Amino acid sequence: MSVSTDGRLLFGGDYNPEQWPEEVWAEDVALMKEAGVTTVTVGVFAWAKLEPRPGARDFGWLDRLMDLLHTHGIGVVLATPTASPPPWLGRLHPETLPRDEDGHIIWWGSRQQFSHSSSAYRRYAAAITEDLAIRYGHHPALRMWHINNEYCTSDHGDEAARAFRDWLRAKYRTLDALNEAWGTAFWSQHLDTWADVIPPRRAQYTRNPAQLLDFRRFTSDALMECYVAERDLVRRHSPAHVPVTSNFMPLWVGQDGWAWAEQEDVVSVDVYPDPRDPLGGQYNAMIADMTRGQARGPWMVMEQAAGPVNWREVNHPKPPGLNRLWSLQAVARGADAVHYFQWRQSRQGAEKFHSGMVGHAGAEGRAFAEVKRIGAELAKLAVAGTHEASGIAILHDWHAWWAGDQDGRPSKRVTYEGVVRAWHRALWEAHLPTDFAHPEHDLSPYKVVVVPQLYLLTDAAVDNLVAYVRGGGTLVCGFFTGIADADDRVRPGGMDARLRELFGIRTLHEWWPLDAHESVECGEFRGTLWSEELTATEDADVVAAYRGGDLDGLPAVLRRGRAWYLSTLPEPPALSSLLADVAAGAGVRPPLSGLPAGVEAVRRGGLLFLLHHGRGETVVPLPDGAAYEDVLSGAQYTGSVTLGRFGVAVLAREERGAGAA
Ligand code: GAL
Repeated sequence: MSVSTDGRLLFGGDYNPEQWPEEVWAEDVALMKEAGVTTVTVGVFAWAKLEPRPGARDFGWLDRLMDLLHTHGIGVVLATPTASPPPWLGRLHPETLPRDEDGHIIWWGSRQQFSHSSSAYRRYAAAITEDLAIRYGHHPALRMWHINNEYCTSDHGDEAARAFRDWLRAKYRTLDALNEAWGTAFWSQHLDTWADVIPPRRAQYTRNPAQLLDFRRFTSDALMECYVAERDLVRRHSPAHVPVTSNFMPLWVGQDGWAWAEQEDVVSVDVYPDPRDPLGGQYNAMIADMTRGQARGPWMVMEQAAGPVNWREVNHPKPPGLNRLWSLQAVARGADAVHYFQWRQSRQGAEKFHSGMVGHAGAEGRAFAEVKRIGAELAKLAVAGTHEASGIAILHDWHAWWAGDQDGRPSKRVTYEGVVRAWHRALWEAHLPTDFAHPEHDLSPYKVVVVPQLYLLTDAAVDNLVAYVRGGGTLVCGFFTGIADADDRVRPGGMDARLRELFGIRTLHEWWPLDAHESVECGEFRGTLWSEELTATEDADVVAAYRGGDLDGLPAVLRRGRAWYLSTLPEPPALSSLLADVAAGAGVRPPLSGLPAGVEAVRRGGLLFLLHHGRGETVVPLPDGAAYEDVLSGAQYTGSVTLGRFGVAVLAREERGAGAA
């Protein structure tokens, strides 16, 4: 399955024509052509427009729109509108409205007010989806199906409670097994009948972590059932080559992205780095790497912003060049499509101050000028469908995140996302491209595997890590890993015994988490966030030891053969150079040597992408004797390339007319 058959990248955005009089559509299409738009995502929130009252159908406007787009050669990513039920659904079926942990109803008036477990919601969603699929499944404009939008709702109400019980029954079979898995001997939580099982609701004090973990799992699965039901309907009524996707929020805690990705033909993500964040480029890279890892096939940026969003405390525009830089960065890291939210900035509604590809300033606006440039440049890059292997994988798992970030843990300052981001940043700053993988994946393609933090590891995952190192792989593992089993039960000894043996940890006595103002000296660097009182086995090498303080002389970084263990979070430059050294030792080096700070180099489809995240000018040395052409500008380079503020060069190697970059 692919998004394009000719290597051409898709370029476009969410298009909400229902917000505009039809006279505007002609101008929209003309501007889309001017900007090189290939595809638009239509109908994401159009349920009330398509079904203004229960059972009614109004497809006339969509017929006209699909035909218009097709006439102008613009493809459609057609969305099922089920993320935003019309008010009449809540009025007729109040049980479709989800409840929060306090039992409060989530009302209509915004969007996403649906309970994943409501049979009425599922019935109405299936009906509109099927009619949409029957009507447009063979329309020549159809390029892809887009199911719902950013599945993210949770429900703690009674219908969800029944579904949760069914899910638990299927998993545990007996109440005894559930009591055992949830550790209900603690605080008199023993469940006497299935009716005692409820979703997590407001309680007096810290709640049962195993219940919370299973509720997360259940919620992800319940949402996925909604997705799969709609996916199967659209597949039934359209040709087999039309892919189906549903867009993730980046690093979104609520969906098990690995499980979901297996159900999608194309994995898509919505990514909104803060233009003011000095590490916004790293964040964009990380989301691309993660999405590519999940997809293990085609993936796309379904949404990004051409300018400011409207949901931060302060919403900054993108300075000139940043939209282009981040768009090309996503392509360099494997995206087959770059789409935006949204095509034309709204004049009404909750997002009227959220930018569009065509902003309130219209075609005269700076945003549109940059969009046009990006569209023209993407058309020169026929890399869709190409994939580059990375030598390094970062392991990531939602179940570990769900279990590890709960209340009642050693330090609230340690967050899963924060730690993953710190490790990815370290690799990014070392110019080392990375993949993301699941701890139970086949890791043999990677020379180096890093584990920022996996508090929960299944037995299969632990075996996988041990086998990976035995098979010749290099593993670098961060603290608070392998602590709990799949039921969130602490492993004997406080950390999995096989892992302790792997890293050469004799005894893990105590964790010594650090306060915000604290750091610990570890020889040549300082550790932050966390430290540990542990002793090493005789065959382990203490690479760095704590100096001073309560842990004086104890190991901070341990190594046993190819297995490394970091019991603290080294400051960014130290973590970066440690990982660079370990990677070099395993034969993994940056795509280009001598890269200046802030310049990212990534290879894809025989091209070398150079992306400059800084605002000054920088010189990037090129390999001796080789000549390159920038396929975007046509400029020729030998020796070096000078990149200006947010500059990008996409180089094809010219030497003797042959070879890859
Ligand atoms: C996304 C959503 C879009 C739009 C956008 C604004 O989460 O899918 O519909 O709301 O955010 O940034």
